[in-house]
Amino acid sequence: MDDLRAAMWEDTVPDGCKSCIAGEEASGFSNRDYSIYRANQMGFDYTQGHKLLGQELNISNLCNLRCRMCDSSRSSKWIAEDLLYETDVTSSHFRTTAKLQKSGWSLSSEEAKTIKFLTFLGGEPMLHQSQIIDSLKEVKKHNRLHDISVNINSNMVTPVDDQLAELLIDCKLVDFNASIDAYGPLNDYIRSDSVWNKLLENMLKLDSLAGQYSNIKWQTINTVTVLNCNKMNELYEWLDNTFKHAKQPTPAILAIEPWYLAVNNLPLDVKDTVLQKLIESKAQSLVNFRQYPKNSSKKYWGQHYDALCNYVSGDPAHMPGVDDWREDFWKFTNFLDQSRGTKFSDVNLEMAEWLKI
Ligand SMILES: C[S@@+](CC[C@H](N)C(=O)[O-])C[C@H]1O[C@@H](n2cnc3c(N)ncnc32)[C@H](O)[C@@H]1O
Ligand code: SF4
Repeated sequence: MDDLRAAMWEDTVPDGCKSCIAGEEASGFSNRDYSIYRANQMGFDYTQGHKLLGQELNISNLCNLRCRMCDSSRSSKWIAEDLLYETDVTSSHFRTTAKLQKSGWSLSSEEAKTIKFLTFLGGEPMLHQSQIIDSLKEVKKHNRLHDISVNINSNMVTPVDDQLAELLIDCKLVDFNASIDAYGPLNDYIRSDSVWNKLLENMLKLDSLAGQYSNIKWQTINTVTVLNCNKMNELYEWLDNTFKHAKQPTPAILAIEPWYLAVNNLPLDVKDTVLQKLIESKAQSLVNFRQYPKNSSKKYWGQHYDALCNYVSGDPAHMPGVDDWREDFWKFTNFLDQSRGTKFSDVNLEMAEWLKI
């Protein structure tokens, strides 16, 4: 931490910060910005000694999904395929397989006296609701729930437990990020093992909670890859038409890894086609928006399309040992399709056609 702080004082970019900087360049927003915003909100004084005000928690890498852009370091459900992948597919794709990791985290009584915000990532935090409930109860013992902000990122497979909901409605602010990457079957394909109707049911519950309690905010958070970059208009339209209380998502997370799914690595001809579609979608979004009554929950998605266009236009990443991106994309996609009994062209025929060899 000392080295990291020293590097930051000197304005150099540490390796671990590079993906946020790339995200900022493309979309003007990143987790780094959000952290700075939050620190400023709390009146954090950077020149004083450190005081623990917030914790970002990966309680474990236990997860009930195996999203295609994720891996075993975040999801235990990826372990079996990551192991197969290491041995079955060429060495240029090598990535190490993580084991199930548990942090054994709990919030101490001492920490509960000063903590201001808790962020739960993962793995899947909703598989650890009892630990989250225990930590909030600890804060409640000090009569401080009204003083803390809670941020949860979830894949929405598991509903929020009633006991957790009761504690959350007494917190100062709850920001719930629901990870959804496409509408319907394409989402279930990317976020493998999720079941769309179940996700919908859980999101509607969250929407209703946000309607009843002004401290509860929720939004979807969308990760963009080659698998969904041409279908974001369908997702945005569906969001507009389905929920009353969802905040407009911050611009999408632009995945730069794994490189065989990163949109900036698409072949040039496909990039042009995707760009064309994004520009048309942006124009259509403006036309639709102008037709809505002022008090409707519908949004203008221009900034989101601009970020995607910047991302698609970005320079391709250096991919050592890879001769043909298209071939490698299919090697990876077909490997997973075979293992999961799926077919990319069933859920995104347009992109499958554009990428045909
Ligand atoms: C790692 S997940 C953990 C929390 C929870 N399981 C979920 O999916 O929301 C946090 C966020 O990272 C996103 N993500 C997954 N793989 C990514 C990648 N390769 N690059 C950027 N973001 C990614 C997910 O879509 C999700 O929104
Ligand atoms: S739900 Fe989250 S942690 Fe699990 S595989 Fe998907 S992105 Fe990774």
